[in-house]
Amino acid sequence: MKDILQELEDRREAARLGGGQRRIDAQHARGKLTARERIELLLDEGSFEEFDMFVAHRCTDFGMQAERPWGDGVVTGWGTVNGRLVYVFSQDFTVFGGSLSETHAQKICKIMDMAVQNGAPVIGINDSGGARIQEGVASLAGYADVFQRNVMASGVIPQISLIMGPCAGGAVYSPAMTDFIFMVRDTSYMFVTGPDVVKTVTNEIVTAEELGGARTHTSKSSVADGAFENDVEALAETRRLIDFLPLSNREKPPVRPFFDDPARLEPSLDTLIPENPNQPYDMKELILKVADEGDFFEIQKDFAGNIITGFIRLEGSTVGVVANQPMVLAGCLDIDSSRKAARFVRFCDAFEIPILTFVDVPGFLPGTGQEYGGVIKHGAKLLFAYGEATVPKVTVITRKAYGGAYDVMSSKHLRGDFNYAWPTAEIAVMGAKGAVEILYRNELDDPDKIAARTKEYEARFANPFVAAEKGFIDEVIMPHSTRRRVARAFASLRGKKLTNPWKKHDNIPL
Ligand code: HXC
Repeated sequence: MKDILQELEDRREAARLGGGQRRIDAQHARGKLTARERIELLLDEGSFEEFDMFVAHRCTDFGMQAERPWGDGVVTGWGTVNGRLVYVFSQDFTVFGGSLSETHAQKICKIMDMAVQNGAPVIGINDSGGARIQEGVASLAGYADVFQRNVMASGVIPQISLIMGPCAGGAVYSPAMTDFIFMVRDTSYMFVTGPDVVKTVTNEIVTAEELGGARTHTSKSSVADGAFENDVEALAETRRLIDFLPLSNREKPPVRPFFDDPARLEPSLDTLIPENPNQPYDMKELILKVADEGDFFEIQKDFAGNIITGFIRLEGSTVGVVANQPMVLAGCLDIDSSRKAARFVRFCDAFEIPILTFVDVPGFLPGTGQEYGGVIKHGAKLLFAYGEATVPKVTVITRKAYGGAYDVMSSKHLRGDFNYAWPTAEIAVMGAKGAVEILYRNELDDPDKIAARTKEYEARFANPFVAAEKGFIDEVIMPHSTRRRVARAFASLRGKKLTNPWKKHDNIPL
């Protein structure tokens, strides 16, 4: 009996060593943790339960039968994050470069199936040389099996990808279909074709980091939602994000204990809006002052800064925030910000997370770049996302809400539940100057007349009261009471029930 117990212990020991000490040392020398160390940091201490530790590949080509390390390059299983169930897979770069074989894929599929069945998120840690070259099409089939599960799980359980090493070729498409992608600076990259192929085909010379590193994907392509300095920070922040999310679409988001008075007044907000309507201010200040304990988890911080997206809590409950940022492009909507916010709104709606929208938007960004790039279709994404969302929606217009952008930003007309405005709000078809230049074109050579007309237009529309008269604004509120008003609004909406007509699925303008 003792021998058998010892054999299990020995086998476990061998499996835990992955590709061996030399390769583990090489992984560490690059500033990367091993697959198992990452899981340990991600999950609550001692909570990890492993599956398929002794799975080995079945390939017999290229002498592969001589080398069949247990685990086959991926560690899979489940555990908890602050006591809440999550499933995890972590690719082991020390075993065949973390490459994906038929059996490696089967291990991932197994925990994905369990996660969907049992209603808990999947966190995938990617660190892989891609398809296991020795296995050929069996590996490609394995990827496709994972892809199909990503699709089926989308909107059912949160899926989070951490890119902590190479992720190239078709392998990028599994993370691409998950809800959030986080990368580690300098040690991770993602691209469909690498620098060598790029050079051959387009003559462009780029490094892997320039082509697909964390900076590229968080600031240029928007493929990734966040970048962190090292593995430890990325794992800690993933734990923080999980705390905001429901485990599945069958559950409400978690309610955490809170120590911040929901009725807290913020007198400083009464002077947040500058006297000069063209002067910017930092919308983040409002978000932080409204949130419980000023805790804000921002998504896509480095991309399309003209819109802010992320999670806060109000009275301990998760709320998704979308806010125009007057500090960047005056808070205009454009292609990038519309895409960014639309995806965020759809995530919130899929997982029953209420949406709080702060509006200060002078309109859509003009220009051939925008029109040729399809701002019509991309702007429609955000409009569509708000319009189809059935979660509680509370909107606060702080200053400008001009033109089509007024409609888009969770207006009353898109089934906004509470549409508040600060007294500083200006709700109109366009700014006074632009309006007067069109309405009184024949008076343009008389600056006095134009100034008088502009004043007249401002007096009529540069306020929230015309919209309030029509019931498009439910209430004009004091800026200092925003946290209290918004928290009470969401509290009153906890029993909200709204369903869209039956359809197979909608046809959002992609
Ligand atoms: C099998 C692989 C492998 C792979 C790496 N290894 N990639 N084994 N299949 N795809 C092995 C190496 O042989 C080596 O084994 C170990 O992993 C570490 O690799 P190194 O090259 O020593 O590491 P490094 O210098 O860090 O380079 C990492 C790398 C490079 C950039 C990922 O290994 C590489 O370019 N690999 C090939 C990538 C690739 O072309 N993959 C297929 C892409 S197509 P030893 O025994 O020496 O430790 C694809 C399609 C997916 O993925 C399609 C889905 C639809």
